[in-house]
Amino acid sequence: MVNILFICTGNICRSPLAEGILRYKLKTVNIPAFIDSCGFESFHEGDPPDSRAQATAFKHGLDISSHRARLFSTEDFDRFDMIYVMDSSHYKNVMKVARKRSDMFKVDFILNLLYPGKNLGVMDPWYHDEKAFEQVYLQLDQVCELISQKLINKTNRL
Ligand code: 4NP
Repeated sequence: MVNILFICTGNICRSPLAEGILRYKLKTVNIPAFIDSCGFESFHEGDPPDSRAQATAFKHGLDISSHRARLFSTEDFDRFDMIYVMDSSHYKNVMKVARKRSDMFKVDFILNLLYPGKNLGVMDPWYHDEKAFEQVYLQLDQVCELISQKLINKTNRL
């Protein structure tokens, strides 16, 4: 069982999309996984994903409507094997509350999978339009495909 957490700011746009995309991909290839997402700002706590994020996911065949925004908690370090952040603000926030080195080793910028070591951020589509949501979706789809491939390779080697 692999446990992966995605983190963004409000947990209503980027990280719920990544969660939905990766959950679907891993289900398709029969890899047992617990995938979740959370945020660092409480403005939208308990809310479903932004309607534009839901619509974009739906267009690609995914239903993310049941997700509810929640905040990161330090116990997440115990529950998850990998914690992917969308940008440097989340990276700083999560590193600030890390309790030990093994917590820190779990955290990485999601785009480092595509652009190793560059620490690039995924654009926050919340301030933009539907086109931005589509761009973010496609980028997250590409990254989640890589995560899925990595896990398939790992499973085949076990
Ligand atoms: P997210 O986007 O971090 O991708 O969920 C945002 C959603 C809401 C806010 C900021 C970013 N906000 O400031 O309310």
